[in-house]
Amino acid sequence: MPMYSEEVIEEVRSRNDIVDVISSYVQLKKSGSNYFGLCPFHNENSPSFSVTRSKQMFYCFGCHMGGNVYTFLMEYNKYTFPEAVEELANRCGYALPKQPMTNAQKARQTKRTKLKNIYKDAANYYYARLHSSGGKVGMDYFAKARNLDDDTMKNFALGYADKKWDSLYQFLKSKGYEEEIMKDAGLVVFDEKKGPRDYFINRVMFPILDANGNPIALGGRVLDDSKPKYLNSRENEIFEKRNTIYGFNIAKRTRRDMFILCEGYMDVIALHRAGFDNAIAALGTALTKQHVKKLKDSHKKIYICFDSDYAGVDAALRAIGMMRLLEVDCKVITMEEYKDPDEYIKAKGAEAFEERIKNAENSFLFAIRKRREDFDVNDPEENNRFFRNMAGRIITIPTEIERENYIVVLADMYNVSPDSLRELVRDVSKNKDELNAIQEEVYKGYSKSDFYNENDSSKVSAFSKKTDAKNKGKEGLKETEGILLTWLLDEPSLYNSISNYLEPLDFSEGLYRDIATEMFTALSEDKEFEPASIMCAFEDNEAHQEIAKMLHTKIEGLESKKDKETLLKETLIKLKNEGLNNVDKTKPGAGKRIRKIKEDIRNLRDIDLL
Ligand code: GTP
Ligand code: MN
Repeated sequence: MPMYSEEVIEEVRSRNDIVDVISSYVQLKKSGSNYFGLCPFHNENSPSFSVTRSKQMFYCFGCHMGGNVYTFLMEYNKYTFPEAVEELANRCGYALPKQPMTNAQKARQTKRTKLKNIYKDAANYYYARLHSSGGKVGMDYFAKARNLDDDTMKNFALGYADKKWDSLYQFLKSKGYEEEIMKDAGLVVFDEKKGPRDYFINRVMFPILDANGNPIALGGRVLDDSKPKYLNSRENEIFEKRNTIYGFNIAKRTRRDMFILCEGYMDVIALHRAGFDNAIAALGTALTKQHVKKLKDSHKKIYICFDSDYAGVDAALRAIGMMRLLEVDCKVITMEEYKDPDEYIKAKGAEAFEERIKNAENSFLFAIRKRREDFDVNDPEENNRFFRNMAGRIITIPTEIERENYIVVLADMYNVSPDSLRELVRDVSKNKDELNAIQEEVYKGYSKSDFYNENDSSKVSAFSKKTDAKNKGKEGLKETEGILLTWLLDEPSLYNSISNYLEPLDFSEGLYRDIATEMFTALSEDKEFEPASIMCAFEDNEAHQEIAKMLHTKIEGLESKKDKETLLKETLIKLKNEGLNNVDKTKPGAGKRIRKIKEDIRNLRDIDLL
């Protein structure tokens, strides 16, 4: 939790106008009621980074980064929240009260700081060793065996741990680190008989960097074929494998609209070396739910590029299942004939890889193609089972039109008539057990709620601690809600016209309803609503981005008053209809709520709002 009280945080925020603050970092030009500039969070040639004084928010229409003045400083300067508060307090000459932390908070903070420092020092140490005369074997390994240049080694902070068994220990000791923190960091092992021993000996080193480029762990690879090939420092207060994506600190700034997701450190590095600055990897473990959520939040397409062996295909199918469930747009690049992207690039070069990207396979079709290998298609029985499986998969596609598209394509690919495939789809959809089994297979046993219902401390909101699984994936609905909220914010006078037909309950549970509630309360009391102030209640910058996105929804097609009337009405009716589907019929009062919504919809059709 922030160390300062909400009042202090809000006071400091309100004394620092966001346009003034951001102007000292980014060149802004006024356009209408907004200021625009080149986004500092991704590469671009024409400005899509906007700062709005009335909202006290910034938002990039290109990379979707957004938030209030605190979010900006944290993202731009890599500040922690308290640091951002302190900076802005200084800027406006506000004297911050001294706030005591609890002992537990203090201990945790100290531990985290120590861990961050020790990894930074260790990574620097190994980096320097790589470039020293004692590091020649490591340098040869990277430069010759792996074909890396100096820039790449620098960007990834690669290093070398030499053959002595206590080099790092001695170095860390000389820097004043306690043995306990060396041990907790997983860098030194303390053996009762042999004493302190470095965990990494004669290995090339791969620091694992967080999204801001700070080392939070270290990985080391042997120089030959011995085992274990890779070692990782241990998990602790600042490092969780399941939350970490290798290469993300660099890839997040890519201009491309997709990430290339591979399996290994070396794949990521080789791809970056070849000019693909959008390569990332999960850390040697399978892709986790947390990884997939992060990827979804990035709004990028995902191109899966795993090893071409059996395990790689299996992992790809699992990843595809999870991403389909969260509606992440994903494709597959196969490395067939070669082991992995690293070897592919080495053998064929960047242009050939670019070609593979262009020819990336639709992930749904990939899954079917792979599944077919499990059936003996010369056996009519098995062939039938294969097509039933295909039909079941088609049923998992959410919209009629998409299902129909796939039916046509698949019928052609697998030499059946579209009609018989349609027939099969109808038949399988009646067989619940069969369908369930196929669904389980497609989604690898996951369901949407698995992704959102666990105790995920990364998204704690002061208003609602619950994220609604049902509404999470519904981008369309969010957009509708976003249109109404953005509109109301830009034109508060609309409130009087629509308040009879719209209430916060109409918005999706979670962030959207929280913001709607705050906004409606302010509007009904004729008070000014400043979303930037509400943001401070959300600890996580991801929530800030989501709020900024919600309140910067593009509203198009408003040339005349009539357009406006039509769009407003349509949007309201759409939201109401959606709400109708979301009423929990098992709850008391459901019937009444349904009648109320239906009545609102009828009224909306008949009246003029504006
Ligand atoms: P290179 O041989 O260096 O090209 O590695 P690779 O990336 O081709 O290796 P592989 O496909 O075997 O492994 C992929 C990823 O799994 C690696 O980048 C590591 O993150 C992880 N990994 C592989 N072997 C081990 C191991 O022995 N221990 C641990 N902890 N992780 C491993
Ligand atoms: Mn490899």
